[in-house]
Amino acid sequence: MSQRRACITALGTCVPERVLTNADLEGIVDTSDEWIRTRTGIERRHVVEPGTPTSDLIVPAAREALRRRGLGPESLDLIIVATVTPDMIFPATACIVQDKLGASRAWGFDVSAACSGFPYALTMGAQFIQTGAHRRVLVVGADVMTSILDYEDRKTCVLFGDGAGAVLLEPREDETGILDFSHQVDGSGACYLNLPAGGSQRPATHETVDQRLHYVHQQGAHVFKYAVRKFAESAEQLLLRNDFTGTDVDLFVAHQANIRIIEAAQQRMGLPDSKVVKNINEYGNTTAATIPLALATALDEKRVDRGDLVLLTAVGAGFTVGSVLLRWSGIAWD
Ligand code: UT7
Repeated sequence: MSQRRACITALGTCVPERVLTNADLEGIVDTSDEWIRTRTGIERRHVVEPGTPTSDLIVPAAREALRRRGLGPESLDLIIVATVTPDMIFPATACIVQDKLGASRAWGFDVSAACSGFPYALTMGAQFIQTGAHRRVLVVGADVMTSILDYEDRKTCVLFGDGAGAVLLEPREDETGILDFSHQVDGSGACYLNLPAGGSQRPATHETVDQRLHYVHQQGAHVFKYAVRKFAESAEQLLLRNDFTGTDVDLFVAHQANIRIIEAAQQRMGLPDSKVVKNINEYGNTTAATIPLALATALDEKRVDRGDLVLLTAVGAGFTVGSVLLRWSGIAWD
């Protein structure tokens, strides 16, 4: 008897039109196009107009996914939003999205797993489908990173951009859908990438603002080493557990934090360029949005077909590590 699996049946994305190029950043901080391109692979990033909440990117992405599937918002049972830039600390951005979308029957919650947010949220959504509890789950990865960037810190402000991606999960009883996942957390890494103030540990004060503690802080080289090791380790473990090797993978959709991290994992798995999605040059690191945006790039470039083995992998603040293995179901794409 075939197993009931959660399948991605639609995808929608939203990136702001406004573009911030490396040349633009040269006028803001002491950096260069050459440094950014060679160290990260980033050429430009899309950024919102200041004051735009994350939900304003999510709603068009969700509407696009629903339109492509020919469904209305009332068809949704559950909305899961992965983000580190919620509209407010509470209520959850999922609640705001539910209201703006008019998803009258849906409940929802946010997931805080930084760059691994999308694989984590996808895995959670899949559980509700597999148990039969729900038939339509919207899983979102979205961040307005520019709202938490310090444009006086060249080590971080050049790395990130804004964006949103939403997928619809529905049950299928064929060979496609989410096959397995492998997630890890190593909380001893919390000190290397974080936003120190504004939470219960250091509530907002004039002092914390003066010390610029409401912005992203990162020890980049340490995160880089951890990410290179964990990307390959997580992906390989998940493949091995399912009796696959790197050569079985048809499409590797990696979190887009640094082209050098993606290429290190690509090399270790022995994957040709045709099987690896790279769009960091265009969007920078959009945190929870990178994987759905990369899936959209793969679809634009007609690089994924029904039945393909697709591997999603991310490493992020926490540290969090997440990989999801799926067989692509084939979706409407226009
Ligand atoms: O998505 C969440 C997870 N995050 C990541 O995966 C990010 C992982 N880390 C990285 O991608 C890299 O570590 C960075 C791109 C952040 C930094 O690259 P790096 O090669 O590790 O550089 P570094 O931090 O070791 O800095 C090297 C030099 C330093 O100068 P000195 O001290 O050697 O004189 C930095 O001050 O590069 C300097 N630098 C810059 N120079 C020009 C750092 N940022 C810049 C900049 N422009 N934007």
